Amino acid sequence: MKANITLLPGDGIGPEVVGEAVRVLDFIASKYNHTFEYKERLMGGCSIDAYGSSLTDETLADCQSADAVLLGAVGGPKWDDPTAKDRPERGLLALRKGLGVFANLRPVKVHPALMEWSPLKPEKLQGVDILVVRELTGGLYFGWPKGRDIKDGRERAVDTLEYYDYEIRRVMELAFNLAKGRKKKVTSVDKANVLESSRLWRQIATKVGKENPDIELEHTLVDTASMRLITGPAWMDVIVTENMFGDILTDEASVLAGSMGMLPSASLGEATVGLYEPIHGSAPDIAGKGIANPTGTILSSAMLLRHSLKLEAEAAAIEKAVEQTITAGARTADIGGKLTTRQMADEIIKIL
Ligand code: IPM
Ligand code: MG
Repeated sequence: MKANITLLPGDGIGPEVVGEAVRVLDFIASKYNHTFEYKERLMGGCSIDAYGSSLTDETLADCQSADAVLLGAVGGPKWDDPTAKDRPERGLLALRKGLGVFANLRPVKVHPALMEWSPLKPEKLQGVDILVVRELTGGLYFGWPKGRDIKDGRERAVDTLEYYDYEIRRVMELAFNLAKGRKKKVTSVDKANVLESSRLWRQIATKVGKENPDIELEHTLVDTASMRLITGPAWMDVIVTENMFGDILTDEASVLAGSMGMLPSASLGEATVGLYEPIHGSAPDIAGKGIANPTGTILSSAMLLRHSLKLEAEAAAIEKAVEQTITAGARTADIGGKLTTRQMADEIIKIL
């Protein structure tokens, strides 16, 4: 098949890890007879430097017209000024909204050989296989009103946690559909004892649950969920939650896997174009050293092949190769090894 992929390497280690994922994609293309055409564009801090905007209209259009978008990471101390008009993160949020990718899939699996890198005891990590479905284009990140003003002579800041019924329903339905191919269990996470938006969330989760009697649904408050992720992660399967809760819980869940550098994500919506990115950040402290772990981005490219290009066999081949590479002992610094970003990708390609 022929596919158009827009690359947004971004800032920090982004270009290093995206470069290696592209080598893996190119290898897949030649082995399975596909043609992947790339457009590389700036997004994030590098785009602020070049164009004065973290995401230009042209770049967004190049993402919207692609079959898939592969992103590295955005941000860094250079653009951290809290009074700045634009920030790298704004570009990322505008991109998610502009692509309409309302569901962010963040799978967390623990490779047995990496258990020692997690602070949890190995017996707690046995059998952990979680898929967090994070709502991505609503909630606190986008709700209106938002901003700062002076009220009654006091400086005030406002963010709004807002959800429409259809926004909750579409991400809930997607989570239930994904649960069908797994352990048939959905944990809906909210704060329904306090938040109005969470009571609507729970009401719709219950409705969608009734429409899917083959799936077991449980409701968990977000504070309890954060505890259960540590005390009994193996009991959780699909977790579906609001944007901000999902942001926090997925960083927590990533610790189970031993390193954030291992974990991929896929952001999907109604359209076929999906956005794929590792869950780690731009890691300015190690940027440019060529030692970042490319695995999260390589696994993100596998999710790209699966969800946007419907190339299941190719996606599974990458995932299997990563697993075998880790089993064979290949390690970057974050998981106790000495391999460079390039060498880690080489090991994966060798097995492919
Ligand atoms: C993530 C990140 C982003 C988010 C930031 C960089 C805006 O933390 O993808 O989890 O909060 O969504
Ligand atoms: Mg985050």
